[in-house]
Amino acid sequence: MVMARAVVAGSVNTSAGAVLATRSGDQGSLSASCKSVVVRSRSLVSQSRVVAVRASGQEFATKTLSGVVFEPFSEVQDQLVKVTTSPQLESLARQRFAPSCEAAINDQINVEYNVSYVYHALYAYFDRDNVGLPGFAQYFKHASDEEREHAEKLMRYQNQRGGKVKLQSIVMPLMEFDHHEKGDALYAMELALALEKLTNEKLFQLHQAAADANDHQMTEFIEREFLTEQVEAIKKVSEYVSQLRRVGQGHGVYHFDLQLQEA
Ligand SMILES: [Fe+2]
Repeated sequence: MVMARAVVAGSVNTSAGAVLATRSGDQGSLSASCKSVVVRSRSLVSQSRVVAVRASGQEFATKTLSGVVFEPFSEVQDQLVKVTTSPQLESLARQRFAPSCEAAINDQINVEYNVSYVYHALYAYFDRDNVGLPGFAQYFKHASDEEREHAEKLMRYQNQRGGKVKLQSIVMPLMEFDHHEKGDALYAMELALALEKLTNEKLFQLHQAAADANDHQMTEFIEREFLTEQVEAIKKVSEYVSQLRRVGQGHGVYHFDLQLQEA
């Protein structure tokens, strides 16, 4: 290992004893990159000064018990060059975020919006005066809001990782839900169960995209914020379907609606 003095075009006070620890093979490239960085902007010179001052107050890297040596002031140079040369149109935060993950998140945002739209249609249906099931209307309004919140959560995450949100088209949903055998209440809840399972499948695909890209933080985010909640939702809606199959149509549905109003 060679200790190299950081001399940066006279802009940095070398008398401060600014010393950077470098591997012997890196010395030439380090001083070259330092010089080019300093030439690029005045603000960068001040950053180099900070690095130098910090360096002067610390001991040089020494071997640890495991033999691993971390040399922060030389190893950071590659990242520093990227940060200082990125045009403002690009994210500064982006790091190890694959385009495939960015696209998969945008696809999932579209899934959440579409499901939200169907639930909104169900809300509008059950809120009609000639349908008269306010508990179902309230339930599906809440479900619609929740799916939209999921879309917004994914938008925040996309921005957090330095990706760009791209909204896509939403499909026009059905507006009539009165099934000739099952009636509207049971049919609507079976539709909700199918949608929740479909959403779960899409979340698995999103998770797989993150796993394929070795994006450990993204897989953890999907597991923490979506997968458990989705499984719980599927269980809850499954129970509703079972109960609606028991009660039949007519008075049973009216009573079930009262239960939803209190939920
Ligand atoms: Fe969702």
